[in-house]
Amino acid sequence: MKIDILTLFPGMFEGFLSESIIKRAISKGKVEINIIDFREYSDLNNKQVDDTPYGGGGGMVLRCEPIFKAIESIKTENSKVILMTPDGVPYKQEEAVKLSKFEHLIILCGHYEGFDERIRSLADYEISIGDYILTGGELASMVICDSIVRLIDGVITDTSLNSESFNDNLLDYPVYTKPQVFRGMEVPEVLISGNHAKIKEWQEEQRIERTKKRRPDLLK
Ligand code: ADE
Repeated sequence: MKIDILTLFPGMFEGFLSESIIKRAISKGKVEINIIDFREYSDLNNKQVDDTPYGGGGGMVLRCEPIFKAIESIKTENSKVILMTPDGVPYKQEEAVKLSKFEHLIILCGHYEGFDERIRSLADYEISIGDYILTGGELASMVICDSIVRLIDGVITDTSLNSESFNDNLLDYPVYTKPQVFRGMEVPEVLISGNHAKIKEWQEEQRIERTKKRRPDLLK
């Protein structure tokens, strides 16, 4: 898979690309991630990418031209364009699963007060990562990128993927490691019973109980 991220702040991605699972996925050739500064595509002498809004009001608005040019220069028939915006569709694990199947994603990070409304015509998906306003789409793009890359075949083990929260709309079951008793808190008896069928049954019960208690909205 190839992911191109269009941003005005490429430096924000340095840590993201150079640590942990994302770094490994890149070095194993499972994903290619390019950070593209769309300021380069501005045809103005000062490389300006924003301008004042029609109708007045505060702040600056991202201009169409550099963004249309950038996307048109990298898009192919196998590309999907994603716009990060707080008024997009709320992001869920099922979207991550869907997006992880595409060959080429282009993720556009908005910034400042907003972007010219006509930029939306470029997007196949408009995504919000939650009901709060970030200073720009960069952190949001890293969130979705991370959730997508870990789902690509061979990036992490299948067993990790099979048992995790949001599969079947349920949260994950609790896990424990050594020691068996820590400050008076004990590991549930069943987990040291060695009875695998019983353990599985307990884990499934726990998933349902947890979801009922913490996220009843998922059960609807
Ligand atoms: N840009 C600013 N806030 C955002 C959010 N919550 N989700 C996606 N993109 C954003």
